[in-house]
Amino acid sequence: MSQLDGLGDWRRTHYSRDIAPGIQGTEVTVFGWVHRIRDLGNVKFVVLQDRSGKCQIVVHRDRADRGLLERVERLRTQYVIAVRGEVRRSDSRFGAEIVPKEMKVLNVAKHPLPLDVTGAIPVELDKRLDSRVIDLRRESTQAIFRVRGVVVNAIREFLTRRGYVEVHTPKIIASATEGGAALFQIDYFGRRAFLAQSPQLYKEQLVGSLEKVFEIGPVFRAEKSHTRHHISEYTSIDVEEAFVTADDVMRLLKDLIVHTVDVVNRRCRRELELLSCGPPSVEPFEVLTYDDALDELRDLGIVVEWGEDFPMPALRRLGRQHEGFYFIVDWPTMSKPFYLQPKRDNPDLCEAFDLMCGWVEIASGGTRVHQRDLLVRRIREQGLDPRSFEFHLRAFDYGIPPHSGFGIGLERLLMRLTGRENIREVVLFPRDVERLVP
Ligand code: AMO
Repeated sequence: MSQLDGLGDWRRTHYSRDIAPGIQGTEVTVFGWVHRIRDLGNVKFVVLQDRSGKCQIVVHRDRADRGLLERVERLRTQYVIAVRGEVRRSDSRFGAEIVPKEMKVLNVAKHPLPLDVTGAIPVELDKRLDSRVIDLRRESTQAIFRVRGVVVNAIREFLTRRGYVEVHTPKIIASATEGGAALFQIDYFGRRAFLAQSPQLYKEQLVGSLEKVFEIGPVFRAEKSHTRHHISEYTSIDVEEAFVTADDVMRLLKDLIVHTVDVVNRRCRRELELLSCGPPSVEPFEVLTYDDALDELRDLGIVVEWGEDFPMPALRRLGRQHEGFYFIVDWPTMSKPFYLQPKRDNPDLCEAFDLMCGWVEIASGGTRVHQRDLLVRRIREQGLDPRSFEFHLRAFDYGIPPHSGFGIGLERLLMRLTGRENIREVVLFPRDVERLVP
């Protein structure tokens, strides 16, 4: 292999997006990856891709100097190059192109490439995930992660503006929050510890001081699910607030979703175009009770036992019946974790809600139990040992106010916002039962 060029004092002056007829005659320095090479004998076209898009470099063999030509002849797709040259108007679909004076080959790429980055040849998801770094050179893959960044920022801004304090709670914890079976156990200096399934207990303890908190962070679920919407590590967006009920935080969650969809529609036009999708509707944002959903399903010939969670065929059917986002409220107490408040007038039901979008559950939350005695009883009723929760229960000895909150699965929300059917598409390096690398 011939020697690679060093970066030296070359620095980018323009992104490929900036190469337009308006800057004809300007000398530019661009950096990026060779996306495509087209050889017409006397003329060679090199399409360069960078984070902003693509531009074209045109090399006339009879006019280029030897150093430049030698480099151009060496190029293969996905090589990393730097080009210095002059912009000129062109009849190509780019509208302008760069006539290079100098070129640097900064790095090479092994061929054959594991997948086609131009998008011309369809590639199955597993193969894309195995070579994620290359898959990320595809514009549509990049678009997903740009939307992801915009969504996280929109949510953070929204909550901060409304006075919620961003917190970070431990991810190495001593006891289960969302049920014992789905925990990853770790060896913590010879003691048994777990990876956090959610910040539930900590966010509840924090309403006793900071009152309004949120956290955006990783959580871990050891469910052996092979579905398109379960992964072992996902990003949870948790909100918890003192002196409010489930109804209040449902309103907050609805406002948050409406805001996020609006921001994505405004700031991610190009990305949505690349992904050929539009975010789901935020109208009419229906609210149905668990019992309504059971009745509806029964009328459609699907029987779900009272108290059971909805199985996948039932969720798919509900998703077809209700447009966009919708809430399911008034869940059977037995079907929800111990920290959810049973209704005063009917303790068989609790003040819990799920936010759905189509067949996918996006978030869940509710009013919490804030009285220690009831919490102990609920822990026992769920077959758990209150002694494992002693550190948590202690907080309830010192004036934890009535409070409510919710947790959103960021990736589930992103699936719906980017029109992806498999959650792994919206995670850079997903973790599931089979996948631990890359
Ligand atoms: P729950 O267990 O319902 O509730 O989780 C909240 C939301 O997280 C998402 N989610 C998942 N996403 C990807 N892969 C998974 N394996 C996975 N499991 C859950 C879903 C779900 O709605 N502490 C409560 C929330 C609260 O009450 O505040 C909790 O974790 O979108």
